[in-house]
Amino acid sequence: MHHDAHAQPIRSARPAMTAALMAETGLDEAMLATLVHRFYDKVRLDPVLGPIFAARITDWEPHLVRMVEFWGSVALMTGCYHGSPVVKHADLPVTWAHFERWLVLFRETAGQVCPPTGAVHVIARAERIARSLNFAIEDAARDRVGGIPDL
Ligand code: HEM
Repeated sequence: MHHDAHAQPIRSARPAMTAALMAETGLDEAMLATLVHRFYDKVRLDPVLGPIFAARITDWEPHLVRMVEFWGSVALMTGCYHGSPVVKHADLPVTWAHFERWLVLFRETAGQVCPPTGAVHVIARAERIARSLNFAIEDAARDRVGGIPDL
């Protein structure tokens, strides 16, 4: 088996896939943990996003642990995250403008923490997920005002 002297081991349901993604992107679990912590440090200080999170998250440690698992699953296919992000976001008081701000902070942090290939990798995934969460929020709002659910 190929052994990379620099990469830290990471728990994964698909170890070969995860190892290949780590080699390709330069990402590892420690880097994702740094990304998550620095990103939410900025989010919490952000005048617009900070209060939205503060109203819902009192204990940050479990959220940060979950987000590192989420990014391991999304970026390195570890399969470690088990949750339902769509449900958790469906009723948030946010529009696409909030997601754009979220993405500005995320892109900036990824650029500071990850090598260029790794930054492109996580940013592309964040952009895709932000769009799909925003669609889910718009759908939930439409359903609440009695729109046609299947349209
Ligand atoms: C305006 C943008 C966003 C806001 C205000 C927001 C807010 C929140 C809040 C308040 C929670 C905690 C929910 C709870 O525990 O009840 C949460 C959880 C989470 N968020 Fe976001 N979020 C945003 C964007 C995103 C994006 C773009 C992603 C992914 C790329 C994301 C991924 C997650 C995940 C994975 C969780 C954990 C869900 C679980 O409990 O399994 N969020 N978010």
